[in-house]
Amino acid sequence: MESNRRDFLKGMAWMGAAAMAAGCNTGRVATGLGAPMQAFAAPPLKKVRVGVVGLGQRGPGAVHRIAGIPGVEVCALCDIYEQRVARQVKWLKDNGKPAPKTFYGSKEEWRKMCEWDGIDVVYNTTCWDMHVPVALYAMECGKHVFIEVPAAMTIEDCFALIDASERTQRHCMQLENCCYGEAEMFALNLCRQGILGELVHGEGAYIHDLRSHCYKTQAEGSYYNSWRLRWNIAHKGNQYPTHGLGPVCQYMNINRGDRFEYLVSLESNQFNYESYGRLAYPAGDWRHTQKVGMGDMNTTLVKTALGRSILIQHDVSSPRPYSRINKITGTKGTFTGGFFGQPEAMARSEWPGRMTWEDAPGDGKTHEYFDPKKAAAMREKYRHPLWKTAGEIAKKVGGHGGMDFLMDLRWAFCLQNGLPLDMDVYDLAAWCSICELSERSVRSHSAPQEVPDFTNGGWRTAKPLGIVDVDLQKMNFDAGKAKADKSALNV
Ligand SMILES: NC(=O)c1ccc[n+]([C@@H]2O[C@H](COP(=O)([O-])OP(=O)(O)OC[C@H]3O[C@@H](n4cnc5c(N)ncnc54)[C@H](O)[C@@H]3O)[C@@H](O)[C@H]2O)c1
Repeated sequence: MESNRRDFLKGMAWMGAAAMAAGCNTGRVATGLGAPMQAFAAPPLKKVRVGVVGLGQRGPGAVHRIAGIPGVEVCALCDIYEQRVARQVKWLKDNGKPAPKTFYGSKEEWRKMCEWDGIDVVYNTTCWDMHVPVALYAMECGKHVFIEVPAAMTIEDCFALIDASERTQRHCMQLENCCYGEAEMFALNLCRQGILGELVHGEGAYIHDLRSHCYKTQAEGSYYNSWRLRWNIAHKGNQYPTHGLGPVCQYMNINRGDRFEYLVSLESNQFNYESYGRLAYPAGDWRHTQKVGMGDMNTTLVKTALGRSILIQHDVSSPRPYSRINKITGTKGTFTGGFFGQPEAMARSEWPGRMTWEDAPGDGKTHEYFDPKKAAAMREKYRHPLWKTAGEIAKKVGGHGGMDFLMDLRWAFCLQNGLPLDMDVYDLAAWCSICELSERSVRSHSAPQEVPDFTNGGWRTAKPLGIVDVDLQKMNFDAGKAKADKSALNV
């Protein structure tokens, strides 16, 4: 592994000035100590005890979902603010759950939660700059860690997480909920069944107009200390790549038969951020004159070792509808779209996706997408088993149309049964490496950037993610009751 990392770092050296200007880390030579984590399975945990840190906009939903899973308990809660912790303590009490241990009052309290032996898992829903420090310390304290997206913003941090996970033999998983979307899992099933043929090209995106959300301050009900706007002010490139990219990587078996080789990235100037600040806020407000470094639309292209291509886009400042694109094309056909919409918005979103494939090579059927009737029949035929098992319940629980709950249900099942998790620390690193590498490319006239082999060659032999499922009965999940009555989940 060392030589690969050294080569990578040497290769990056020529970028010196541009990278430094970008505020990028040039990486480091990692220790290479510890055993590989591909297919790692921890001893089964009959009861999974979870500590959640970061109870802003995303964290509370995680608390509610996790608390509804049999055999999983939210045993600890942490935030800087007492009030945010107290709100979740009350929610747990109101829903008949045991009282958790609480940690609040300073920016360092998370350390005490990581040290506490009453939890097995640290579930990290803090802001981007806190993901890695908390995760590293938690693993050193013997805890498995789940980290919100993007789990790491630099190559150096990706390697640090790999080192820690390998050395401590603890799971380090990125919470990429979009891999559990109904359409994404449907597309994964199509790929696994060979319906689309040999895979050639994928596309993913995070296109979400977040201007008003980013510009609002914490006092106005938005991000802690305006962390997201501050990040976008200081950076270029795709700083939120994993929602669109993660599912495509699973379709293509990235790190499990293929891997990212290099990328190029190009972005538009920003036309929308500063004009929004000027229009939305009066002279005298800092946002009226705030300069922003990030362009509106970033487009990154990745070439893989097997010769496939992936397009990833990021745009959180343009007035356009939400999209993750979610496109996968093979030698026989293609699927696109179908990502979540809140139920009431689905009719207006790209739900339920479009698809077409050939019966015989070149039969011309793929000039059009299937008509709605055929598409509906195919959606039924190739529905992913996990969605068949728990989709109805997931939709009731919610969380981006149910995918958040399926993600949590699935790691809970894996931990309870001593199974490998669906996403490992190498997936985390490859998907997150886009943050730094796209920025480096943008800042150097779209120059190609090599992507390190985070698996140390393990991608050649690692097994692809299978068609995964859960056993609700084994989990003591009263599925019938839950389907009939949402309150049965207490969420
Ligand atoms: N997967 C998804 O669909 C999805 C959706 C939204 C957000 N996210 C991710 O979730 C994470 C959180 O986003 P958010 O919108 O909730 O942000 P937020 O600013 O609303 O919440 C962050 C919370 O972390 C707390 N925090 C910050 N520093 C801390 C520290 N040192 N110790 C303890 N607590 C600390 C803050 O007080 C705040 O409550 C981000 O990584 C974001 O990208 C993911």
